[in-house]
Amino acid sequence: MRAAMTDIARLHLTTHPGLEDIVVAEFRERAAAAGLTEEALSAEPAGFRGRVEVAAPLEEPELVALARSMRSIHHVLRPVLKLELEPGRELAQLDAALRAAEIPELGPETSFRITPTRHGTHDFTSMDMARVAGAAVQAKTGAPVDLERFDVEIRVDLVERDLAVAVQLTREPLSRRFAKPYEQRVSLKADMAYAMLRLAGYPGPGAKLLDPFCGTGTILLEAGEVWPGVIRVGSDFDPRAVEGAWRNLVANRLEEGARIVRADARRLAEELGEGGFARIVTNPPFGRVIGRGIHFFEFYLRMLASARRVLAPWGRMVVLAQRRDALRAAVEHHGHFRIVHARVVDMSRLFVGLFVLAPRE
Ligand SMILES: C[S@@+](CC[C@H](N)C(=O)[O-])C[C@H]1O[C@@H](n2cnc3c(N)ncnc32)[C@H](O)[C@@H]1O
Repeated sequence: MRAAMTDIARLHLTTHPGLEDIVVAEFRERAAAAGLTEEALSAEPAGFRGRVEVAAPLEEPELVALARSMRSIHHVLRPVLKLELEPGRELAQLDAALRAAEIPELGPETSFRITPTRHGTHDFTSMDMARVAGAAVQAKTGAPVDLERFDVEIRVDLVERDLAVAVQLTREPLSRRFAKPYEQRVSLKADMAYAMLRLAGYPGPGAKLLDPFCGTGTILLEAGEVWPGVIRVGSDFDPRAVEGAWRNLVANRLEEGARIVRADARRLAEELGEGGFARIVTNPPFGRVIGRGIHFFEFYLRMLASARRVLAPWGRMVVLAQRRDALRAAVEHHGHFRIVHARVVDMSRLFVGLFVLAPRE
């Protein structure tokens, strides 16, 4: 039901820092599809890394439902307060702010827990923040703390001097949306896969997508849901990944229109033929997994040469690269691609490059 124009619900949506604009664009699309006009809503980076503030003339549960349908976010939060803290007085200010804050969800019958995060240099720990915030909220509301079986999760996030307190409305991150009977030590989050597909651009029904380092298959799973009708091909040189990614597709009923083959990403054309793919979307291994001995420039160079042969001349390639400079140098040296878009994304404090490449004529 549409609320009166004066009732504006406001939420914060979290994502990988660096993908805020994608969250804004996705929110606007979904809001438009739900019948909201552009003038009625707002969606802006919240001035806090990895956060977007959205507001619309809806009842809060309606806006929460809209937010929960999004694919580019981790969590949905209801902001409680935002504050710039003075160095040396941070914990006292946190205490005072929370003793003054209204958190309508909490009372003597509702347990809560504080989840703290802290980035920057401070002379206290995140556990100190949780302890101070927990005591203040308990004093104000009478609610008991329960770290395991809490009813309400309160996030206290501090980035340098910026403090944000919010009620987290999602339990599990929304990015954890696929069943994964096969897991690897590291795999991409589905919201990152969504962002990569968005940057690649929908190629149309019947077009072919390739992920030549498919691992557990996150990109193929995500594409199965957002790009129905696109033919998905995954490849990996590890036979366990070939079999495992297929099991993951089957577990999510997304195997129709998909195929996984064993292939070395440096020699794709031998297995997959020339020029048939409209999109390549992939994250090659990061340094942690590939080992210290590897020379990234050489590795990227061989990957690009191989990808160029299987990609259509009008195609697009989206690559997530931990070694940003090595990727740029490899693109330049190879000479058959140009970088049409590049950005840095913070993946759990790993600053990775997200590149969109187009073949040069
Ligand atoms: C970073 S993971 C990809 C993760 C994947 N996006 C996911 O969500 O699970 C890298 C994968 O690349 C594979 N790999 C590494 N070197 C390769 C190569 N030269 N050719 C093909 N696959 C390779 C590994 O076996 C691993 O499964």
